[in-house]
Amino acid sequence: LLLLFFLVLALSSVRGQVSYSIPEEMPKGSLVGNMARDFGLDIKRLKSGKARIFSRDSGEYIELNDDRGVLLIKDRIDREALCGQTTPCALHFQILLENPMEFYSVTIEITDVNDNPPVFEKNHVKFKISESAVSGARFILDRAVDPDVGSNGLQTYKLEPTDNFVVKLLDQTDGTKNVEMVLKTPLDREKNEHLSLVLTAVDGGEPQMTGTMQILITVLDVNDNAPVFTQPIYKASIKENAAIGTLVATVTASDADQGSYGKITYSVSSILDHARGLFEVNDENGEIRLKGNVDHEKARTFQINIRANDDGGLVDSCKVMIDVIDVNDNKPDIHIMSKSNVISENATPGTVVTMINIEDADSGENGKVQCSINDNIPFVMKSTTNSFYSLMTDSELDRETASEYNITVTCSDEGVPSLSSSVTLTLHISDVNDNAPVFEKSSYEAYIVENNTPGLSIFTVKARDADWNQNARVSYMLEDSSVNGVPVSSYVSVSADSGVIHAVRSFDYEQIKDFQFCVKAQDGGSPPLSSNVTVKVLIQDQNDNPPQVLYPVQTGGSVVAEMVPPSADVGYLVTKVVAVDVDSGQNAWLSYKLHKATDRALFEVGLQNGEIRTVRQVSDKDAVKQRLTVIVEDNGQPSRSATVVVNVAVADNFPEVLSGLTDFAQDKEYNDNLTFYLVLALAVVSFLFITCLVVIISVKIYRWRQSRVLYHSNLPVIPYYPPRYSDTLGTGTLPHVYNYEVCRTTDSRKSDCKFGRAASQNVLIMDPSSTGTMQRIQSEKSILDEPDSPLEVRKDGDGLGRQ
Ligand SMILES: *[C@@H]1O[C@H](CO)[C@@H](O)[C@H](O)[C@H]1NC(C)=O
Ligand SMILES: *[C@@H]1O[C@H](CO)[C@@H](O)[C@H](O)[C@H]1NC(C)=O
Repeated sequence: LLLLFFLVLALSSVRGQVSYSIPEEMPKGSLVGNMARDFGLDIKRLKSGKARIFSRDSGEYIELNDDRGVLLIKDRIDREALCGQTTPCALHFQILLENPMEFYSVTIEITDVNDNPPVFEKNHVKFKISESAVSGARFILDRAVDPDVGSNGLQTYKLEPTDNFVVKLLDQTDGTKNVEMVLKTPLDREKNEHLSLVLTAVDGGEPQMTGTMQILITVLDVNDNAPVFTQPIYKASIKENAAIGTLVATVTASDADQGSYGKITYSVSSILDHARGLFEVNDENGEIRLKGNVDHEKARTFQINIRANDDGGLVDSCKVMIDVIDVNDNKPDIHIMSKSNVISENATPGTVVTMINIEDADSGENGKVQCSINDNIPFVMKSTTNSFYSLMTDSELDRETASEYNITVTCSDEGVPSLSSSVTLTLHISDVNDNAPVFEKSSYEAYIVENNTPGLSIFTVKARDADWNQNARVSYMLEDSSVNGVPVSSYVSVSADSGVIHAVRSFDYEQIKDFQFCVKAQDGGSPPLSSNVTVKVLIQDQNDNPPQVLYPVQTGGSVVAEMVPPSADVGYLVTKVVAVDVDSGQNAWLSYKLHKATDRALFEVGLQNGEIRTVRQVSDKDAVKQRLTVIVEDNGQPSRSATVVVNVAVADNFPEVLSGLTDFAQDKEYNDNLTFYLVLALAVVSFLFITCLVVIISVKIYRWRQSRVLYHSNLPVIPYYPPRYSDTLGTGTLPHVYNYEVCRTTDSRKSDCKFGRAASQNVLIMDPSSTGTMQRIQSEKSILDEPDSPLEVRKDGDGLGRQ
């Protein structure tokens, strides 16, 4: 510069100097200056002098037009190329002239034109900036270059957009300016991961020119976001019988960060003890699954805290509330609080037998329980309070109908499906003595043949008692009663245990044909119940009595004779044999037969009626005295018989009879009429006497029997000698007395056997004297006698004299 400055001064000092100023970039041929005029030179001179431009270095930009004497632009002048940043920028050259040699100095100052925009070396630049970069962080940018100088040079920078960064220029010590990008607002990768800014460099020319550079910023992630659960509280429910592995819930957390900062791991952060081990969370997808068995009855809800972690250590947590839904998985539990195994059959309806407590661990409908019992039993279930039931009797019980009940209590809940459980109670009904013994028949008839041996068992009565054990143990006893004035216990006895009725004595049909008594059956209950039955004993006849001939009367010494008039016709009724048999039936069915006769051809005996009739005409030739033996037989098996001798006198009248009878002893000297009247009177007197006598005897016998306890007999008053007895003592008392073993049942359980004497009852007493009297009285009438027992004819006229 100094050199150039010196040169210009030297030149100008030499011949003249002119300066021009042109802007750069003038087109070719543009006029720079009128050199000729400015130097005062003539065009001719120029021509002659062969004016030319002398320049060492810059001759090619300017040409001299010597025709006009002006300087023209020869080539485009770029100031920046010519001078760079040097200012001022000028071209120095001389215009040489020959003839004379002279030169003129020209200086052309080239002024800057804003022809260059600022230019960045690169059109984009990339940055990676962490989002954690704080405000104020600086990033140095490339500078732009503007070759223009002065105000045309680079003036300032603009950065757009201006959200996060501002541009700052920093003056350096060397006068240059550093461009810096300063973080104004922190970056957020999550909002804007890539930023694109444009840095514009602006010069001061007119018009302005700019150059731009793109700044591409990648925001680097920083773990600035914690994971966030989608909900703070999750609710889930699970059935209590869910299988292991069932998905319970899924928690989800998100993390806005990237990569590992956004990678979430789930874990259980806290769990209550009772839930421990029951749930697990999948660390990757947040699925909570069942790991154990949950039971609604143990825990109804669970709470789990789940944590979400990113790899940068940030966490969030949430709560998971899990409800356990009840499933009807518990049967009703029947608990017997108290029960009676036995109940008395007379328990009143409503007696509580069993108390039951029922529980169902399930809840809601699954835990509502209804109980019932089996049908057709006299029991009912009543619910007292919620879960307490009483089993009670519903109606009267009867052990005899049902001695035990199996009561099945079934309880079912109202779940779907319903669960039920049952329990069977066995209840025994205890006996109460509520049934009296019952005889098999309403009355009994028993038969016994007379003359039985005492002690013979006649019959068995049987009563049944529907009760049990002691209440059903029946014992039999004879009810006190009397038969013909005699206690029945002297007739029969009853075995208390077996009900066998024994005869206590030998029975005589002729004295008693039947009798009845009551047997009581009594059970062993307390109080005892009893019932009675009537037993009728019918005594059956045996043919133990021979027929008794009543007429004609047989006497030892005197003979009664019947008279048959010699004129009697055939069939004349001589007499009638009258016999009785105290037996009955066939045993008393008598038949009469002629056994022996003086003249068999003269008489016959009616087989049935015992009538003795003549069979032919009686003649004088027939013997006066006829003796007939008639045999009377009964029809028993074996039959018994009696014989009677009938004396018949064949005579017209009594004297005749007398004479006939006493033909060798006495004479017939009486008048017939007299005799007849005599006999008639005698007969009348005798009849009256006998009648009186019979009456007296009857009265006497009756009184005697009243005073002595004797059997009443309906038999006619007929002396009776039992065949086996004989009246030896003449006291009227039989010598033999039956001694029996009598089993009395006075005491309920023990059979005391006592010897009883039934002497008085068993004695037949008779009055032989009266019998004898009768015989004698009858003999008053007898005038005939057996030949071997001489006929006695007493004519006392006083029949009573012997009394
Ligand atoms: C009750 O059950 C028992 C045992 O199962 C059985 O032996 C008995 O016969 C049953 N009783 C009734 C009345 O059903
Ligand atoms: C027998 O029982 C009936 C009722 O059954 C009673 O009327 C009667 O008096 C009883 N007889 C005796 C002798 O006990």
